Amino acid sequence: MNRKYTDLQAFSYQILFWYRSNPRELPWRGTKNPYKIWLSEIILQQTRVAQGTPYFHKFVNNYPTIHDLANAPEEEVLRLWQGLGYYSRARNLHACAKYVCFELGGKFPETYEGLLKLKGVGSYTASAIASFAFGQAKAVVDGNVFRVLARYFGIETDIASSPAKKEFEALADQIIPKNSPDEYNQAIMDFGSRQCTPLSPDCSNCPLQSNCFAFNNNMVKDLPVKINKTKITERNLHYYIIKCGKEWVWKKRGSGDIWEGLFDFPVKESDKSMKLPNLDLMEGEETHLFEKKYRHILSHQRLNATFSEVEIPANKYDKLSKWCNEEGYILVNEDEIDYLAKPKLIINFLTDQGI
Ligand code: ADE
Repeated sequence: MNRKYTDLQAFSYQILFWYRSNPRELPWRGTKNPYKIWLSEIILQQTRVAQGTPYFHKFVNNYPTIHDLANAPEEEVLRLWQGLGYYSRARNLHACAKYVCFELGGKFPETYEGLLKLKGVGSYTASAIASFAFGQAKAVVDGNVFRVLARYFGIETDIASSPAKKEFEALADQIIPKNSPDEYNQAIMDFGSRQCTPLSPDCSNCPLQSNCFAFNNNMVKDLPVKINKTKITERNLHYYIIKCGKEWVWKKRGSGDIWEGLFDFPVKESDKSMKLPNLDLMEGEETHLFEKKYRHILSHQRLNATFSEVEIPANKYDKLSKWCNEEGYILVNEDEIDYLAKPKLIINFLTDQGI
């Protein structure tokens, strides 16, 4: 649909007007440093500002420049990322730092198209970096922007459908003012997350109210349209905490896994929530000490996890060590566990154990 240029201008003007009296001080704002901007945007993918901010500080303190990050060991980067989830972001972050440092001479590409070629950088992140660091007029479009535009302009396209992104991006790129694209992108991010919120938007105090289609047509609760097709799978995991004195058996998750590079324990998976399978590690000599159950929610998975502790007698240490070698497990002393990067589920379990 063609919209009048003056309507688009009125929208961006009002968004900027709102932002100027509601600015949020965030540690990655007010800089043109593409490294810090890129770092903040990767951290903020699928993560709220309040949760991401301490991680931003941790990364900047540990790796003040892209060279420091590129030269860090991957295990250290994953350990620093621990607790943020979606670990492919951390692996991509590290791979991207190496690429920019060793292939591009430490300089980030300065255009949206160039940025889009980097690992872990999609259209939202490329637009954010292009506008914040290089002043390019590329508009960010995410769930917040879908919601604000759908409500204000009365767009009924299903935002989960494939054409939606193109339609909203085209409109957003028409709206973004050429003279202040960075401020506009910051403004619409904040407006979506603080004023025009999903469930309780503050319409009565909104300067965009009089021109807002959804408000004027009593459709605030109906827009945006989202038809959910996400398939959620249930998984039953049986974890074994195998200990021999102070040594614990750990497993490093392999490639193609959501938790690639992170450490957890030997695990068996079953279709149904069945009784604990027998480990048969030491011909019945091991002692099963306790079982604890956890439920853990991921974006597309619901996990039912059972942790079962197994004690191996000290005189079977050599046999255990041989078994670990054969199975691809490692033995880690209890005092070293803190240094391993672990999924949240495992951290929850360890915290309850006082580790
Ligand atoms: N979410 C994603 N990027 C952001 C940013 N730069 N500021 C606030 N929230 C964000």
